[in-house]
Amino acid sequence: MSSPLLTPPSAQEVHVWQWDLDVCSGDFDQYWQILSTQERERADKFRFERHRRRFVAGRGELRRILSRYLGLSPRDVALDYGSDGKPFCTIQPPGWTICFNLSHSENAAALAISNGFEIGIDIEQGRPIEESMPLQVFSTRERAEFTALPDTERQKVFFESWVRKEACLKALGTGFTLPPDHFEFDLSIHGDTTPRFVGGDAEEAMHWRICALPSGPTCAGAVAARRMDWSIVNMN
Ligand SMILES: CC(C)(COP(=O)(O)OP(=O)(O)OC[C@H]1O[C@@H](n2cnc3c(N)ncnc32)[C@H](O)[C@@H]1OP(=O)(O)O)[C@@H](O)C(=O)NCCC(=O)NCCS
Repeated sequence: MSSPLLTPPSAQEVHVWQWDLDVCSGDFDQYWQILSTQERERADKFRFERHRRRFVAGRGELRRILSRYLGLSPRDVALDYGSDGKPFCTIQPPGWTICFNLSHSENAAALAISNGFEIGIDIEQGRPIEESMPLQVFSTRERAEFTALPDTERQKVFFESWVRKEACLKALGTGFTLPPDHFEFDLSIHGDTTPRFVGGDAEEAMHWRICALPSGPTCAGAVAARRMDWSIVNMN
């Protein structure tokens, strides 16, 4: 399973890796071998075998990729967690600071790696929008913009907005301990963007950059950082 070392992202790059979590049995066994005891215990708590296998393929591939940046074996990649659960590497490579964030949705996984600044990533497979979802996700102004959209655009715009917000909250490391409308967007802007407000503050919003992930027609994705001068390098 050893692979060549990877060059770190520059301070203006975010490396993005994407993979399929529905792996065959051989890969599963290899991934299982490199998980920590804590990760194996977590895997064994999943009720459904499919979810267990996807978790193992997510953490396994995360370890394999991180190990190639760190120059360690995948099993030796040491992870710890922030107060709201964001994982980070406790062993840092010489000369740069590795930051990462992982996301999964159904069988799809995506990983963002940056150098010296916190990063957040989110992917979501499109699905029908339940009535309560816009109420839970949007601010009053966003809801008005959303309601004005034609029905045919709503699903795409909903998930585009959702991944932006979740990527920002994951960059902060809070996740949904903060409400989704903490980050408010202009729904008429598609692709790369900046929030309109962060916690109601337009000045703070100007420090944030959100890049859309080039994903399939059914999957939305975004990467976010509180920093303006960076772009995505697709590593697949
Ligand atoms: C972070 C959060 C938004 C992720 O939601 P999700 O639907 O699982 O979304 P994703 O698939 O995009 O992300 C999951 C991955 O994000 C990472 N993650 C977990 N908590 C995170 C956080 N607070 N901030 C950033 N990333 C986080 C993990 O790598 C996780 O995958 P893994 O555990 O399989 O490695 C959600 O778990 C949350 O709001 N957590 C914070 C509050 C909380 O419940 N804390 C309890 C633990 S202390």
